[in-house]
Amino acid sequence: MKDCVDLLLNWYRIHHRELPWRKDTDPYHVWISEIMLQQTRIEAVIGYYDKFMKRLPTIQDLSLVEEGELLKLWEGLGYYSRARNLKKAAIQIMDLYHGVFPQTFEEISSLPGIGEYTAGAISSICFQLKEVAIDGNVMRVYCRVENADFDVYDLKVKKKIGEEIRKILPKESGEFNQAIMELGETICIPNGVPKCELCPIKEKCRAYQKGTWSEIPRKRVKKEKEVEEYTLFLLKCGNFFALHKREVGLLKNMWEFPNERGFLTYDEVREKISSITSIQLSITNTHIFTHKKWYMNSYLIEVSQMDPSYVWVSLAEIESTYALPSAFLPFFLELKNKYPL
Ligand code: ADE
Ligand code: SF4
Repeated sequence: MKDCVDLLLNWYRIHHRELPWRKDTDPYHVWISEIMLQQTRIEAVIGYYDKFMKRLPTIQDLSLVEEGELLKLWEGLGYYSRARNLKKAAIQIMDLYHGVFPQTFEEISSLPGIGEYTAGAISSICFQLKEVAIDGNVMRVYCRVENADFDVYDLKVKKKIGEEIRKILPKESGEFNQAIMELGETICIPNGVPKCELCPIKEKCRAYQKGTWSEIPRKRVKKEKEVEEYTLFLLKCGNFFALHKREVGLLKNMWEFPNERGFLTYDEVREKISSITSIQLSITNTHIFTHKKWYMNSYLIEVSQMDPSYVWVSLAEIESTYALPSAFLPFFLELKNKYPL
């Protein structure tokens, strides 16, 4: 790997992608982009990032944003606790550092939602500190170059690779960290055949020489995801629809359509919901989370009275102000389809 450092730096300087958060090394820009990139592919992040920076151009703006609006900006990205942590961290930066992003690894790591990877990325890219930033891309490239059959899901392996990369880290630490990630995203890709012919380090790569790249890194032994079944009630009263703030488990504190665990029959629905004037089966959706899988059925139910335990809002309001997690979006789209705004 040591012999790859200069090759990677030279390659990155010529071939890196122009991305909105690479226009400067403002830590606020790098921070927000790194958190977004932890959950979504680069192409998808660009739109979110631009919208976010337009609305919240400074750390102070982020510290003051109302949670509903913040979640709306995050809608569809998933892992909503990350958005909440961004605001907490922004408040901390305002309170402890007068709004100036801290510049030591320890201070950066102490901010809510910033783990070792993100702290390493920010401190190397923005402040040229000699810190590593080990993500899946870095581990894959490292293991292939070294032809190492490591289990990259083992935290000890991540630590070991971090130590090895730290030993060879050049003074251009930010560029190097980005170079190896960029190689992993564009050339030494995770799914499908790596583009070894275009790779700047192929002469140094053991997996390339031995033809073993497809076995490295070792695949994870897949655990079956836990399955949960839900019945959603798409409750309509006049032009208003019922939303509810989720109280438990996954997506806690996010807006949802009222629902019950399990697949309910018509009769069971009639027992739960009062003042029904019409009821029909509506669409189904499956949503896959990191550790769980949700199967959702839904009923479109017209009622003559608004149950006060829900908020009742128009579809236009849902669209403009209520952040619905991706799991529930198809149901909203179905309603919009049926009752055009
Ligand atoms: N993926 C996530 N963060 C990145 C970065 N800073 N450079 C390249 N790829 C990345
Ligand atoms: Fe990856 Fe191929 Fe480059 Fe080796 S030569 S680092 S396997 S792209």
